[in-house]
Amino acid sequence: MKGVILAGGLGTRLFPLTKITNKHLLPVYDRPMIYYPIQTLVDAGIDDIMIVTGGRKSGDFLSLLGNGKEFGLKHLNYTYQEGEGGIAEALGLARHWAQGDSVCVVLGDNLIEKNIIAPVAAFRKQGEGAKILLKEVDDPERFGVAEVVDGKVLRIIEKPSEPVSRMAVIGIYMYDGQVWDIIDELKPSERGELEITDVNNWYIDQGSMTCDVMEGWWTDAGTFESLYSAATRVAQGGANHKD
Ligand code: G1P
Repeated sequence: MKGVILAGGLGTRLFPLTKITNKHLLPVYDRPMIYYPIQTLVDAGIDDIMIVTGGRKSGDFLSLLGNGKEFGLKHLNYTYQEGEGGIAEALGLARHWAQGDSVCVVLGDNLIEKNIIAPVAAFRKQGEGAKILLKEVDDPERFGVAEVVDGKVLRIIEKPSEPVSRMAVIGIYMYDGQVWDIIDELKPSERGELEITDVNNWYIDQGSMTCDVMEGWWTDAGTFESLYSAATRVAQGGANHKD
């Protein structure tokens, strides 16, 4: 399985912090934000990684990360997203590199307390389809929200004004090699982007989506409140624990 980290976009919700740089280069306590999703993949044994970047200061990723030596990697792959076409469009840019392999996709602003060793192992065993990770939150309207019955996801609604549950879909997704053709068929949403939620709903309709509930805390870091909360959580107890 290969790993893809999505680290593009203009980070407008963090303006003016992102006026001159990429959101994923901002500090979260003692490390740049992008360090956390890289560690998440490396801890799960995924060492073939593509970083999709874009927007301002995208060249700084190379200066910061190089070939990934700090993470024990020999090599890192990079690609560039022009404009703001959405998460699914960004993922599509990794197609030629993934060459039909399955992928674990991590949004560059998602941090976790623990690790994804167990769900990655479960998805390898599953062999096909997709897997998402869920976490109960107090503010589901900020996220993709899953309707879950008897451990099965029936539907995901992106940023609903009246959420059907408090189970947020976190920004870590596992897909088999069908994902590239699904992305090709997507139509832009009302906000003009190719939505990852549409990819996930395709797998749900096909009956090949599984879900796990994430252990430990999870947070994104794309708003002032969540960036502050992420830094506080890391300062208090660290992130990416292996046990
Ligand atoms: C994205 C996804 C959303 C998901 C969230 C997790 O939202 O669209 O479904 O719950 O990431 O961080 P964004 O933060 O890009 O608005």
